[in-house]
Amino acid sequence: MSRASGLAPGEARAPGPTYQEAILLDSSKPPEPFLDYSYAFMGDEDIPYSNYTSKDFAEAEFSRMWPKVWQVACREEHVAEAGDYHVYDIGHLSAIVVRTGSGEIKAFRNACMHRGTALKPSQSEGNCQNFRCPFHAWIYNLDGELVDLPESWDFPHVKVGGADATHNLRPVKVGLWGGFVFINFDLEAEPLEKWLGVFPAHLDRFRIQDRYIETAVTKRLPVNWKAAEEAFMEAYHVKETHAGGRDYSEPITTYDVYPDNVNRFIHTTGAANPRMPRQPTQQELMEQIWGRRGSAEGPCPVVAEGETARDVYARIIQKQLGEQYDQDFSRYSTAQTLDSIEYFLFPNLFVFPGLSLPMVYRFRPDPDNPDFSFFDLFILRPKHPQFPPPPPPEPLFLDVEDSYTKSEGLGFLGPIYDQDTNNMAAQTRGFKTCARGGQTLGNYQEIRTRHVHKRVNDYVKGNP
Ligand code: FES
Ligand SMILES: [Fe+2]
Repeated sequence: MSRASGLAPGEARAPGPTYQEAILLDSSKPPEPFLDYSYAFMGDEDIPYSNYTSKDFAEAEFSRMWPKVWQVACREEHVAEAGDYHVYDIGHLSAIVVRTGSGEIKAFRNACMHRGTALKPSQSEGNCQNFRCPFHAWIYNLDGELVDLPESWDFPHVKVGGADATHNLRPVKVGLWGGFVFINFDLEAEPLEKWLGVFPAHLDRFRIQDRYIETAVTKRLPVNWKAAEEAFMEAYHVKETHAGGRDYSEPITTYDVYPDNVNRFIHTTGAANPRMPRQPTQQELMEQIWGRRGSAEGPCPVVAEGETARDVYARIIQKQLGEQYDQDFSRYSTAQTLDSIEYFLFPNLFVFPGLSLPMVYRFRPDPDNPDFSFFDLFILRPKHPQFPPPPPPEPLFLDVEDSYTKSEGLGFLGPIYDQDTNNMAAQTRGFKTCARGGQTLGNYQEIRTRHVHKRVNDYVKGNP
């Protein structure tokens, strides 16, 4: 269709309204950033499969990219009290994030300055008064200063304390936004605020810092970290992967890219889509949404004349979640209540500010094998205005073969994540045998994938 239309590459759009037009039919006013458009054509060359499969490419990422990019190490609630620490590993790098005695959050490279021993185990957390190396018991305080050097008579070349101390822990840069603790191993890195681009302007209003972690799952995935991210970056796959090819299933989606590190999609739930073979009534739309919730939900609500299925369903969700979390969610717009609102911050963070889909994703490469990665999935809920939230849960670890349905907290999302995961091992196999040598992307719907590769290449090729 776009071929015959005479449009320039990237100008074609799915038939029917844009996402921005569709949500203006809601009875509530959508948040203003949802109405923004920010697409730009970025070329249509294939993306080489070697970017995913090659050990050399992965090594280039480990040496040139991961040590220089801002990334989320943990949430602030992981280090709530003085002495709380949390270890974040990325590739072969490891950082200890700690709440110091003065309440500040600091981070250090997780390595003793004597003979390099990691001071704390990978991905561990806990509370301590100081960092005591398990090898020879050099002790560092929570500010990273070497404060005790056993048998110091043997180390006249090590200066302990004072401005010219030689063996304090090496700092890692820290930045805070939205309740997340970001770190950067590059002490010369630009400030986090600059890295975030439009993130705060779009998302501050949703107060992600006032949410707590309800569910945490880490799963090992059988695919390169970039392909793992890309599995969640478009809604093009929804019809085949999640809806068994059914015709009513296509959401209406906007894809947007912002300089230099942000992109997003937002897609509708329960809106009529002109790609459906026959235009459903609002009541039929309601039945479609309701049908997906399973039979336990009781009879399908009636959509009164002049109302839309989206507005009716949004009110039901607000009421149900309001009762469940003892809060008033009625001020949320229909779009924020129902839609899949997914913001991405390069290289590996996804934040969903929506009410019914309140996820955070983080992807990490496997340090030893580019064909595998780790997917840290969190469900964040709004904190109760009066009562303190529960402490962050221990993440449930799922290996490659484990189903997401093992996590109770994921609820109806478990089978959906399994459907996404099912494509991954097949993709890794295909990457290695596909005669084309690279993947072909849709200009609009897969622009976010192209954006990720552009930014990775900026680093790998040395020109970020
Ligand atoms: S390696 Fe840490 S005290 Fe010796
Ligand atoms: Fe999916």
